[in-house]
Parts: sequence; structure tokens; C-alpha cells
Amino acid sequence: MQGCFITLEGVDGAGKSSHLDWLADWFRNRGRTVRLTREPGGTPIGEKLRELVLHQPMQPDTEALVMFAARREHIETLIRPALAAGEVVISDRFTDASFAYQCGGRGLPESRLELLEQWVQEGLQPDLTLLFDLAPEEAARRLASARDPDRFERERRDFHERVRDAYLRRARAQPERIRIIDGGRPLAEVRSQLQRLLESWA
Ligand SMILES: Nc1ncnc2c1ncn2[C@@H]1O[C@H](COP(=O)(O)OP(=O)(O)OP(=O)(O)O)[C@@H](O)[C@H]1O
Ligand SMILES: [Mg+2]
Repeated sequence: MQGCFITLEGVDGAGKSSHLDWLADWFRNRGRTVRLTREPGGTPIGEKLRELVLHQPMQPDTEALVMFAARREHIETLIRPALAAGEVVISDRFTDASFAYQCGGRGLPESRLELLEQWVQEGLQPDLTLLFDLAPEEAARRLASARDPDRFERERRDFHERVRDAYLRRARAQPERIRIIDGGRPLAEVRSQLQRLLESWA
């Protein structure tokens, strides 16, 4: 079987993690071996960098470089080997998040991240990206009761609006790869939209 790389994206609290296990089961029920992972993180070094980047104040360029350093480790030690073994790799966030947060949110030029993307990914792109779209104020309401906020979640409303807009711009530019899921619907409806999408995609 051919490896398959799927990523989940969206603002903090949009609902990505809520569908991870279901998504994994959807593929397992079709006889696939699934590897669930996340960014930043996914490897021992990546998880250390995640701790750093989510909690330690740093310059925007430093932040982007740390994200891509963690990503290189993730790609080389987990993603590529799993894909080569024919597995389905599902990552909770990937490079679209860097463009959304570091470019959209923090204002770094996209050209800089495009260079890093070429260096670190050497052509690797997700086969499918599920973008959970949700108004940031609703996402914040959902998260408020869930857990303590990290460095990104503590950013102001306009930061999250820019992140959302950057995600939607990318989805419009790459409609074949990036599919928008309406994250504002009740959980069961989001799941049936997801199921319909997968059935027509697979
Ligand atoms: N469709 C939905 N309707 C109502 N609440 C939802 C819905 N989807 C998720 N939630 C709730 O919203 C909160 C955030 O969801 P979740 O953790 O899946 O978001 P996330 O996108 O993974 O966030 P983060 O980027 O911060 O990890 C959770 O408490 C979850 O139970
Ligand atoms: Mg999550």
C-alpha cells in the first residue's frame, strides 16, 4: 500500500484534536496502519522544542526556525519512514500552521518560510489537509474551559483573526489539497461532513 500523509489545521480550539482518533479509526477500518503525530513535536527532540516554543518568549524569526528545526527531525525520523512503510500518517498541524501563525499572525514574509519549506521538506507535501475553520471568538470560548493557555493562545483577538485569514487564503490557493471543514457546527455534524469528504476523497 502507498503511504498517505494527512494534516489537520485550524486556529487554536477549532476542533482538530476532537477528530483525530475517529479519523485514525476510519483508516484502520479500511485495513491501514495509522501513525498519529503532532507539530510542533512528534519526536523526542521535537517535543522538547514544542515546550520551548509554546512557553518561552522569543523573536518571530527564532520561532519560525525552531518550528522548522522540529519539523526536519519529524520528517526525517518519523514521517518519511512511516510513509515509506505504506502507513497513513496523520499530523495534528504541519507547515500550513507556520504560514498561518508566523506569517499571518506574526507578520513574517512568506518568502522566508518558503525557503525553509524547500530546505526542510524537499518536496514533501501532505496529500490532504483538513482545515477546521472557526471564528476565533468561538474557538476561545470553547478553549476557556478546556485548559491553561499557551503563548499563542494568549495572543489577542486580532492575532487569531489574521491566523484564520491566512489559513483561508492558503485553502483558496490550494483547493485540491486543503479542504475546509465548517468547525462551527455541532460535533456530530462536523463528523458527518468529515466522513462525506473522506469517502469522496479516498
Ligand atoms: N463542533 C464542536 N462543537 C462544540 N465544541 C467543540 C466542537 N469541537 C470541539 N469542541 C470542544 O472545543 C474544545 C477545543 O477542541 P479541540 O481540542 O479539538 O481543538 P483543537 O483545534 O485541537 O485546539 P488546539 O489547537 O488548541 O489543540 C474542546 O473542549 C472540544 O471538546
Ligand atoms: Mg488540539
